Amino acid sequence: MLSVRDLTVSIGAEAAPVDIVSGISFDIGKGEILGLVGESGCGKSMTSLAVMGLLPQPGPRVRGGRIELAGADVTALQPWQRVEAGHGRIAMIFQEPMTSLNPVRRIGDQIAEAVRVHDGVSGTAALARARELLELVRIPDAALQLSAYPHQLSGGQRQRIMIAIALACRPQVLIADEPTTALDVTIQIQILGLLRDLCNRLDMSILFITHDMGVIAQLADRVAVMYGGRIVETADVGALFNEPRHHYTRGLMDCMPARNLGVRRLPTIPGQAPRPGAIRIGCVFAPRCAAVQDVCQTAAPPRLVVGQGHEALCAFPLQGGRPL
Ligand SMILES: Nc1ncnc2c1ncn2[C@@H]1O[C@H](COP(=O)(O)OP(=O)(O)OP(=O)(O)O)[C@@H](O)[C@H]1O
Ligand SMILES: [Mg+2]
Repeated sequence: MLSVRDLTVSIGAEAAPVDIVSGISFDIGKGEILGLVGESGCGKSMTSLAVMGLLPQPGPRVRGGRIELAGADVTALQPWQRVEAGHGRIAMIFQEPMTSLNPVRRIGDQIAEAVRVHDGVSGTAALARARELLELVRIPDAALQLSAYPHQLSGGQRQRIMIAIALACRPQVLIADEPTTALDVTIQIQILGLLRDLCNRLDMSILFITHDMGVIAQLADRVAVMYGGRIVETADVGALFNEPRHHYTRGLMDCMPARNLGVRRLPTIPGQAPRPGAIRIGCVFAPRCAAVQDVCQTAAPPRLVVGQGHEALCAFPLQGGRPL
């Protein structure tokens, strides 16, 4: 449903671009959930905005690569051009629903507005569809909630409303950028359950963005691990957790609280993530890698196939927890 090839997003002057996303590639199949995971500033949101055609203007721009949505090349198209051409069925939800909802309009009107734009129906037909969408995202008393204002709902319910608005365009692909980060753990689990359920029932594909390996483990079918603007490892979720091959992925897992029950201080990955453009030659993770070799500092790492559907951007990937 979604295919991204060699996508590069850059800032700065045309003549001296600084890449914030460097040649990343991934695919999402129909009904599949791809988790995109990585620490703050690694380029997750820029990737999702580029895929949506919503990069802030002026600012970051797509400098190279190709984005295909259900087989159509949408790389250079604005969102309205995509809709006009008939391949606009992609939607997005964000971390903080309150910034996207209008505080002085009733929930029902806001959902009906999205329905009107996409289905071309208004009045009672749009409200009926709005109610259907509320039921789809399992808001109890849907009829009653249509007349509520955003501040009357809890954070979890507001995120359900955002999902309902996103579903109004009957998306083939839903992008969710940290949609549960601001919610407490029990509500987070419910929203993740809802997304999985919608994905199955509507045969919708999801690009789920998070910095939380625990969320990835719960939700994703496949995972792409991002670091310093690059995808450093891609695998099925089981293979990634059982046999991480990139040293960064391994580091992320070692930091998971669930894997460190009883320890007094969680391990961390020493050092800091690179600023965009800071590392121009060699491996972007080399300055923090425990297994770094001389060649890692001078040559770009190869993308190695390390298993079925499993790739690592590393000259010396791990095997059985040790370098090959
Ligand atoms: N409008 C902008 N202009 C220039 N640089 C930007 C802009 N927005 C983001 N950046 C830079 O691009 C890089 C990637 O940012 P991005 O927001 O994609 O990270 P992220 O992985 O989503 O992080 P987080 O987990 O904090 O949301 C960062 O170094 C950031 O400082
Ligand atoms: Mg982000």
